[in-house]
Amino acid sequence: MRTAEDVATVRRCTTGWRRLGHRIAFVPTMGAIHAGHVSLVRRARASADYVVASIFVNPLQFGPGEDYRNYPRPASRDRLILQRERVDLLWKPKVADLYPEPDRTRVRVQELDRKLEGASRPGHFEGVATVVLKLLNVVRPDVLWLGQKDAQQARLIEQMCRDLHLDVTVRRGPTVREPDGLAWSSRNRYLKAAERAQAVALARGLAAALHALQNGERSAARLKAAVRRVLSEYPKVKEDYVEVADAKSLEPLRRVRGRVLVAVAARVGRARLIDNLEWEAR
Ligand code: PAJ
Repeated sequence: MRTAEDVATVRRCTTGWRRLGHRIAFVPTMGAIHAGHVSLVRRARASADYVVASIFVNPLQFGPGEDYRNYPRPASRDRLILQRERVDLLWKPKVADLYPEPDRTRVRVQELDRKLEGASRPGHFEGVATVVLKLLNVVRPDVLWLGQKDAQQARLIEQMCRDLHLDVTVRRGPTVREPDGLAWSSRNRYLKAAERAQAVALARGLAAALHALQNGERSAARLKAAVRRVLSEYPKVKEDYVEVADAKSLEPLRRVRGRVLVAVAARVGRARLIDNLEWEAR
């Protein structure tokens, strides 16, 4: 595995591969690599000849009171895992490389950036869209791999790539979970033991919604109530939102129609966790 910091080195590497007719898959991350990231790397591996991964804790997508400074950065462990997964190039840009002063350009994906996570974290998706476009412009992959775990992020980046005519195929990998159902997240490390035991509430709440959907429930209010009933059994879990939305527009729904996204966000101790499911009637 090659490791690079600066833009020029990454460009040289990927341009060389592209000239030889190879396909490149890209997995952007903020590090603290876990099974969710690894599953994306494996899908990337199967979808292309070369795999590029990036680790960059992007200051632009963190709000003022958020965890930018404390975000876990286990650099050597991350490197070993990605090496074992046969990543070809690991890119670890410096803030000054991605945001050279004076840095004036920001990318906004309108409407999609104001819902769900966007309502709770103003400016977050502008930070995400801006950094992902910068990363894509340097790597220029054929395939971009994103996780369903961050469904709104994936939706927004799909829209950005389409709107800006980026020559990349965006693909989603399914959410990878721990044995009890908790979705893997770098932020799970913030959980104390008692909180970790209750963090399963999000997945259990979504399981209740899925069960109701499969039994014909179509009222968003009743689906949300089913999720909340489960959350209320876990006192350490403080709901931020529970929403039933159209999976494409992210517009809240009153009744389930077409493909729907059931999304939940909650605080557990000092961790803010999110999870979701997408479902479509067959
Ligand atoms: P990060 O949280 O490190 O996640 C990197 C990628 O892994 C994202 O596409 C995310 O959806 C995916 N992922 C995270 N947990 C997952 C899980 N349990 N199962 C499957 N996939 C999972 O998302 C970001 O970083 C950043 O916003 C980024 C896109 C890198 C831009 O800074």
